[in-house]
Amino acid sequence: MIDLLMKRRSIRKFKDVHIEADKLEKLVKSVLLAPSGSNQRPWEFVFVTDRGLLETLATVRDRSSALLKDAALGIVLLGESDRRDTWIEDTTIAAILAQLTAHSIGLGSCWVHIRNRMHNDTKTAEQFVRELLEIPEQRSVECIIAVGYPDEQRAPRSEEDLEYDKVYRNKYGLKYR
Ligand SMILES: Cc1cc2nc3c(=O)[nH]c(=O)nc-3n(C[C@H](O)[C@H](O)[C@H](O)COP(=O)(O)O)c2cc1C
Repeated sequence: MIDLLMKRRSIRKFKDVHIEADKLEKLVKSVLLAPSGSNQRPWEFVFVTDRGLLETLATVRDRSSALLKDAALGIVLLGESDRRDTWIEDTTIAAILAQLTAHSIGLGSCWVHIRNRMHNDTKTAEQFVRELLEIPEQRSVECIIAVGYPDEQRAPRSEEDLEYDKVYRNKYGLKYR
């Protein structure tokens, strides 16, 4: 697990290769297996593989979302924000599980943030996604996880990257290291 965590990096360039059905299935399982507050699972997911939709989703924000253009898949994470106040935690845990699963099966991924972001001066990123994918008003859009076969290599994390000075033992201020 630590090896996977060291090697997982955000991938923003993807090959023009589709994701096989068995890998797609694993990604679906990964989000459905996420833990949630009181096991309430206040989420829904839209797995977008349609090229035209992905290209339009790539324009939801500025440069932050452009990577979706070449992704083979965008997993749109929706929260039942009217039902559970932990919907943000619950959906974001599902998002990171999808990212880790993607990397464990040779795929790359990157988070594209949607909640509290703008599409343009007048429209929120959430509204843009909602209209495009016909998502009901009662669902909040947290993020989109772009997934595909990596077309770039990112260096794994090293020990030097780890901010041990932010970790304390027993009491705040008592350095772990
Ligand atoms: C909450 C959150 C929001 C993010 N939003 C974006 C985004 O909109 N676009 C993007 O390209 N990357 C986004 N990222 C990816 C981060 O930039 C990336 O995880 C961070 O730079 C660390 O790099 P690494 O993932 O390679 O370890 C986001 C990551 C998180 C956790």
